[in-house]
Amino acid sequence: MAGVIWGEKAGIRPLRPRDASALHRFMTDPEVGHLLYEEKSGPVPGPLLLAFTLWLNSLAPRPEWAIVDEKERFIGVVRLWRISERNRSAMLTIFIGEPAYWGRGYGSDALRLVLREAFGPMDLHRVELHVFEFNQRAIRSYEKVGFVHEGVRRQALLRNGHYYDILVMGITRPEFFAREQERQSAARETGVGRRL
Ligand SMILES: CC(C)(COP(=O)(O)OP(=O)(O)OC[C@H]1O[C@@H](n2cnc3c(N)ncnc32)[C@H](O)[C@@H]1OP(=O)(O)O)[C@@H](O)C(=O)NCCC(=O)NCCS
Repeated sequence: MAGVIWGEKAGIRPLRPRDASALHRFMTDPEVGHLLYEEKSGPVPGPLLLAFTLWLNSLAPRPEWAIVDEKERFIGVVRLWRISERNRSAMLTIFIGEPAYWGRGYGSDALRLVLREAFGPMDLHRVELHVFEFNQRAIRSYEKVGFVHEGVRRQALLRNGHYYDILVMGITRPEFFAREQERQSAARETGVGRRL
C-alpha cells in the first residue's frame, strides 16, 4: 500500500481513523499499560472518539506512525513527541499492542525506520526515551538499535509496593548513522559469505 515505509519486516505508515478500534484495544490492555505508563493512565477515549482524533490528526499530520507487519496488519504505534526545534531533539515512545508479536524483531525494525525519519527529513540531532528497569525486552531492543544508557531516575516508579528505576536512554544522529553503516557492512559480508 502507498504510504508504508518498509524496513526488513515491519513497516510504518500514518495512523488513520480505521485503526481506532485496534488502537483502543492496545491502549486498554493492562499488560501493555504496565510497561508503558508511568502515571495511572487516564480514561482512554472510545473507538469513535479515537477515530475522530485520528481524522483530525490526518489534517495536520503529527510524527506518529502505525507499525504494521508484512501483511500490513496494524500491530503497534511509534511516536516522537516533545519536539524541540531549538535543540533539534525529541522524545520517543513505542509499543506493539499485540503481545504475540513481542520479541520477534518488529519493534527494533520500526525503531530504525523512525530514527531514519527523525535524523533524515526531520533533521533532529537527538532522540531520548525512558524505560522501566524491569522491561528487559524493550531495553535490549533499544540497545540493539544503538540507544545509549545515559542515566537513571532512581526509584521513580512505584508498583505494587516496590520502587523501580526508570532508565534514561538516548541516541544522537552521528551514533545512529554509524550504527546503520555497521549494519550495512555486516549485511554485505553475510551476503558475500552466502555466495561463497
Ligand atoms: C518494546 C518493544 C517495542 C520491543 O519490540 P520487540 O519487537 O519486542 O523487540 P525485538 O524483538 O526487536 O528485540 C527484543 C530483544 O530482547 C530480547 N528479549 C525478549 N524477551 C526478553 C526478556 N524477557 N528479557 C531480556 N531480553 C528479552 C529478544 O531476544 C531480542 O533481542 P535479540 O534480538 O538480541 O535476541 C515491544 O516488545 C513492546 O511494544 N512491548 C510492550 C510495550 C513496551 O514495553 N513498550 C516500551 C515501553 S518503554
